[in-house]
Amino acid sequence: MAMMKLLLCYLIVSMACHLVFSFTDPQDATVLQSLKQQWKNLPPSWNYSNDPCGTPWEGVTCSNSRVKALALSSMRLSGKLSDDIGGLTELASLDLSFNPDLTGSVSSRLGDLRKLNVLILAGCGLSGTIPSELGNLSQLSFLALNSNNFTGEIPASLGNLTNLYWLDLSNNRLSGSIPVSTSTGPGLDLLKKAKHFHFSKNQLLGEIPASLFSSGMVLSHLLLDGNLLTGEIPPTLGNVQTLEILRLDNNALGGGVVNLQNLTNLIELNLASNNFSGPLPDLIGMNYLNYVNLSNNSFQPSQAPAWFSTLKPLTTLALENGPLQGQVPQQLFSLPQIQIVILRKNAFNDTLDMGNNISQQLQLVDLQNNDISSVTLSSGYSKTLLLMGNPVCASSIASTSYCQPQKRSATNCSTSLANCRNITCPSDKKLSPQTCACAYPYEGTIIFRAPSFMDTANCSRFHDLQISLEMKFGLAPGAVVLLNPHFNIDDYLQVGLGLFPTTRNFFNSSEIQRMGFELSSETFKPPAEFGPYFFIAVPYKFPGQ
Ligand SMILES: *[C@@H]1O[C@H](CO)[C@@H](O)[C@H](O)[C@H]1NC(C)=O
Ligand SMILES: *[C@@H]1O[C@H](CO)[C@@H](O)[C@H](O)[C@H]1NC(C)=O
Ligand SMILES: *[C@@H]1O[C@H](CO)[C@@H](O)[C@H](O)[C@H]1NC(C)=O
Ligand SMILES: *[C@@H]1O[C@H](CO)[C@@H](O)[C@H](O)[C@H]1NC(C)=O
Ligand SMILES: *[C@@H]1O[C@H](CO)[C@@H](O)[C@H](O)[C@H]1NC(C)=O
Ligand SMILES: *[C@@H]1O[C@H](CO)[C@@H](O)[C@H](O)[C@H]1NC(C)=O
Ligand SMILES: *[C@@H]1O[C@H](CO)[C@@H](O)[C@H](O)[C@H]1NC(C)=O
Ligand SMILES: *[C@@H]1O[C@H](CO)[C@@H](O)[C@H](O)[C@H]1NC(C)=O
Ligand SMILES: *[C@@H]1O[C@H](CO)[C@@H](O)[C@H](O)[C@H]1NC(C)=O
Ligand SMILES: *[C@@H]1O[C@H](CO)[C@@H](O)[C@H](O)[C@H]1NC(C)=O
Ligand SMILES: *[C@@H]1O[C@H](CO)[C@@H](O)[C@H](O)[C@H]1NC(C)=O
Ligand SMILES: *[C@@H]1O[C@H](CO)[C@@H](O)[C@H](O)[C@H]1NC(C)=O
Repeated sequence: MAMMKLLLCYLIVSMACHLVFSFTDPQDATVLQSLKQQWKNLPPSWNYSNDPCGTPWEGVTCSNSRVKALALSSMRLSGKLSDDIGGLTELASLDLSFNPDLTGSVSSRLGDLRKLNVLILAGCGLSGTIPSELGNLSQLSFLALNSNNFTGEIPASLGNLTNLYWLDLSNNRLSGSIPVSTSTGPGLDLLKKAKHFHFSKNQLLGEIPASLFSSGMVLSHLLLDGNLLTGEIPPTLGNVQTLEILRLDNNALGGGVVNLQNLTNLIELNLASNNFSGPLPDLIGMNYLNYVNLSNNSFQPSQAPAWFSTLKPLTTLALENGPLQGQVPQQLFSLPQIQIVILRKNAFNDTLDMGNNISQQLQLVDLQNNDISSVTLSSGYSKTLLLMGNPVCASSIASTSYCQPQKRSATNCSTSLANCRNITCPSDKKLSPQTCACAYPYEGTIIFRAPSFMDTANCSRFHDLQISLEMKFGLAPGAVVLLNPHFNIDDYLQVGLGLFPTTRNFFNSSEIQRMGFELSSETFKPPAEFGPYFFIAVPYKFPGQ
């Protein structure tokens, strides 16, 4: 009897011990164990214990024994996003971004993660369709599936994600039309809290649905560039007065551009390379516009519109291959912020007189292939002026630089390593310009989709970018390397990035997580002139891995 009591006692104590010392809910532990079997290159701490919450596994955040967040950005993870993950039913945040070897299709069981608030799968190698079950994640506020290989249509069920603030589907191979709600099902028009629709560079077809837009929306960035959209700009777009960036360039849109005057908060407007017709849009009153690009459309011939001379914040005006004739308005060059004027391939004639009050910011005036017959050269302007293909180049100025072919001014604004001249690092490390020591940087490419400047002549703005990165990530001055800033074939500004650790010669995985998250979620804000961006990380190589 005493023996029995003792045994019972022992059992109770050991059960209690077990309860006290295993911190992880058994179901969550099972799921994570199974992911550990399937995924390669997990952090080493996943082998130190069998208790993901107790002796915490890196990247796993728990609360009350349940797994709340799984963050494994930029880890070189390889494997598949299988059904098992659907078992982490308390998960609120899942970030597996920038793991290009995470391939295959996305399990529809992701739709079981009902508590999910943040889902970031950007920059992986995922393919197949986007599971419509994601529409069941009613708590979701941040969904980034950009830069994968997703095909098929945008699931209409995403319209059920009424708490969504951020929807990034760009750089995939999505097709079909943009879904809007019908009597039988949801659509993206229901996303009344969304500030970001980023659908650039897919193969989306058909018209931009008029019912997508309404005055109750708070959309700030609408990026539809690089698709196959047809039809006209729906008049309802004018109701979305919160809009700041509108990119419709590189589609097959047509018709007149008449409903934009209401969009008085617009900062960037790109309608280039479509088939818009009718009169040039009237942009008077859009007093925040600093980037306007209307190139390559079919607008009807006209004089330069009045807003060329009055849009005070304008930094970039592009109307290449356009309908303009008559004289180039002198006041354009006096706009206080103006930097870039691209008006090649129009029919400007008469005399070009840039006046004597030329903006200090002005870098480039491209008037090639117009019909300009004489030029009054101004002493106040020493930057680039391109006039090749005008009658004036048959005159006495024929041999000047004005009449030579264009060189887009480009300086190599890469961070200099000159101070560490003759140090070479082993192949797995890189030279830190801050310490001239070899270290393991977090690297990637940052791609700005709509910068307000157009050349890389001025390195000081890249210096500002570098400083803003150092501040955001708490890195030492000089610990950020920028490599080869240039405009890529899509006309996005592409900059190689290397972030060097400050106290050690490598980052730990929670530091990598934090930087990966802040760059993939655009929590890091670059100087305003850089505009929206996306980031593709090189999976981090931990020492000895
Ligand atoms: C854990 O150990 C096993 C066996 O040694 C190994 O194959 C696996 O890669 C290790 N996993 C991690 C995350 O370190
Ligand atoms: C997408 O697929 C193409 C061809 O199948 C491949 O070349 C490319 O690398 C893939 N992209 C990504 C991001 O996986
Ligand atoms: C989840 O979404 C799918 C597809 O949108 C739907 O068929 C299914 O009924 C939903 N499941 C639940 C439990 O709501
Ligand atoms: C959207 O949500 C509604 C209401 O919760 C539900 O009835 C419907 O099945 C959902 N539709 C899809 C396609 O998930
Ligand atoms: C401009 O906005 C007002 C108020 O939201 C709306 O009534 C009007 O129809 C809009 N005009 C255009 C052209 O979109
Ligand atoms: C205008 O937009 C087109 C299409 O995206 C792009 O190719 C061109 O470089 C842009 N022009 C300027 C000056 O940004
Ligand atoms: C305009 O179209 C021409 C011919 O299609 C193309 O070469 C040029 O890059 C386009 N320019 C812009 C600014 O889109
Ligand atoms: C461009 O629009 C005009 C009508 O404005 C139409 O005649 C022409 O076919 C369109 N071109 C293309 C390539 O869609
Ligand atoms: C020169 O241009 C600036 C900016 O547009 C303007 O404020 C200023 O009055 C102009 N000065 C003269 C002398 O016209
Ligand atoms: C410039 O072009 C316009 C319209 O084509 C024409 O009316 C005007 O006479 C031209 N001016 C000069 C000086 O050639
Ligand atoms: C710019 O400079 C960096 C290093 O200073 C070099 O690696 C890169 O190749 C250069 N790029 C170009 C386009 O010259
Ligand atoms: C580094 O270069 C300097 C001259 O540039 C030279 O004097 C010095 O010996 C070099 N140091 C090493 C370690 O090669």
